[in-house]
Amino acid sequence: MAEAFTQNGLAVITGGASGIGRAAARQAAKAGMKIVLVDVNAAKLALTAAELAGMVGVDNVLISTADVADPAPMVALAQTVIARFGSPTLLMNNAAAFVSGGAGGILDPIENWQRLFGVNVLGPVNGVQAFLPAMLEAGMPAVIVNTGSKQGLTNPPGNPAYNTSKAAVNAYTQNLARDLRERPGCRVTAHLLIPGWTTTGEAEHRQGAWLPEQVIAFMDEAIARDGFFILCPDDETSTTTDRKRIYWNAMDIVQNRPALSRWHPDYKDEFAAFMARDLPIDDGD
Ligand SMILES: NC(=O)c1ccc[n+]([C@@H]2O[C@H](COP(=O)([O-])OP(=O)(O)OC[C@H]3O[C@@H](n4cnc5c(N)ncnc54)[C@H](O)[C@@H]3O)[C@@H](O)[C@H]2O)c1
Repeated sequence: MAEAFTQNGLAVITGGASGIGRAAARQAAKAGMKIVLVDVNAAKLALTAAELAGMVGVDNVLISTADVADPAPMVALAQTVIARFGSPTLLMNNAAAFVSGGAGGILDPIENWQRLFGVNVLGPVNGVQAFLPAMLEAGMPAVIVNTGSKQGLTNPPGNPAYNTSKAAVNAYTQNLARDLRERPGCRVTAHLLIPGWTTTGEAEHRQGAWLPEQVIAFMDEAIARDGFFILCPDDETSTTTDRKRIYWNAMDIVQNRPALSRWHPDYKDEFAAFMARDLPIDDGD
């Protein structure tokens, strides 16, 4: 049984100053872990770090304004962290950029695409490259969580750069999990966190959304059950609805339908009828 929040463990959380990352950091503090927070927002980072220091003591909190898109500071951070605290028992690659320029879309400026891929895709890769060698060497149980998105699975029109980056996080994390599974005696596992609609940052909480704390509680339970896909519902979208949407999306390829047929006018009625039926396969629960 894997465990995300382990007493006396070490949590390294990117994007940890806000939202889902901050909720994870608070949960880690409640569990009595040492915490390393990485976030480019220095002001929010200082506020969150002060709160955590009040819970676990100032010596047990380390902060860094490293940009996760940049490998060198992540490697330097890992060296500092490992020398001071040892290797992480929880590495949560959670920071993401939500850049959108112009109208947002296929012709978004290339700089936006590069930034989204730098942070959202190479961020988790950089986190893993920096910390995994020491985690493997420690030979201790440890968990890596990469934060993906339903947008990387069902690909709704609106922000193709973000969707494409999160699809890559899905592909990458599946490869990571398999790689770890195949290593003899390896006690490190990888998991893909797929939040639903979650109120984050300083946004006002709206009906239908989950709070970041709900996402983290759901994640904690899923990891304890050794779940890889941590598909979070919210108060608007049930797990069953998510599974049907994901199934429909996969069946576009199998049935050779047009791309993103869910949003194609010719498939409107068929999609609605499909959503009204039971999922045609065993859902794994
Ligand atoms: N909120 C949602 O509804 C939702 C849904 C699906 C997925 N997600 C994912 O959840 C994760 C957390 O998002 P959130 O909603 O809590 O957002 P948030 O804005 O509250 O937190 C993200 C944090 O990441 C930090 N960050 C951004 N770029 C960074 C970088 N290059 N290096 C280091 N830190 C950086 C930001 O400063 C911010 O503090 C993201 O991966 C996001 O894509 C969120």
